[in-house]
Amino acid sequence: MYKFFAIIIFLTLITFTTSFPLSGFTQCAGTFPNEVTSFSFSPNPIIAGQNVTYTVSIDNTETVQNGATFNITTYKQQQLMFNVVSDYCKDLVEASGYGCPLEPGNYTFVFSAYMMTTPYDPKNTTIEFNSRAEIANPGDPKTILTCIERKYSVYYP
Ligand SMILES: *[C@@H]1O[C@H](CO)[C@@H](O)[C@H](O)[C@H]1NC(C)=O
Ligand SMILES: *[C@@H]1O[C@H](CO)[C@@H](O)[C@H](O)[C@H]1NC(C)=O
Ligand SMILES: *[C@@H]1O[C@H](CO)[C@@H](O)[C@H](O)[C@H]1NC(C)=O
Ligand SMILES: *[C@@H]1O[C@H](CO)[C@@H](O)[C@H](O)[C@H]1NC(C)=O
Repeated sequence: MYKFFAIIIFLTLITFTTSFPLSGFTQCAGTFPNEVTSFSFSPNPIIAGQNVTYTVSIDNTETVQNGATFNITTYKQQQLMFNVVSDYCKDLVEASGYGCPLEPGNYTFVFSAYMMTTPYDPKNTTIEFNSRAEIANPGDPKTILTCIERKYSVYYP
């Protein structure tokens, strides 16, 4: 009986670590044409009130059109915290020295984002978040090109 539980716990740990490797991202369920091949950010953990620099490589098989959107939904313990939709071409593609329409190819984007603070933030505490990021070409319906989910920690000084 003890062995049985030990095995279950071990398998759970394995599944957990494979689905969220260290700098933590997984492809969303489904098939998307432009797959993220690597993802990292610094500092890790992220620090509230400071910038975070992200480095993301994407293998584009489909052209990214002008007007593409970048949709990030953030959760804390399964509870929706915020949803931000921004201009993917302007904020990520151009910020990294490329332009839209972005032809098929392998690209590495490097961009910074400020980790906001609020007066309600806890002090000297690390909080874990989950988020889902979708990149979509405009249209009706829009075409989701890329989708990843990730788990990350933010330190509130
Ligand atoms: C964060 O980056 C922006 C521009 O990328 C810069 O204007 C700002 O000063 C930076 N903020 C901090 C706290 O480093
Ligand atoms: C953004 O993504 C969330 C989660 O997948 C989804 O519910 C929402 O409809 C999306 N918003 C837009 C504008 O695409
Ligand atoms: C991107 O790189 C991968 C492997 O390095 C390669 O298989 C793929 O064909 C490349 N994609 C494009 C669109 O060039
Ligand atoms: C922050 O928390 C840690 C442990 O939770 C504690 O050791 C440390 O003294 C705290 N630092 C401050 C500045 O309160």
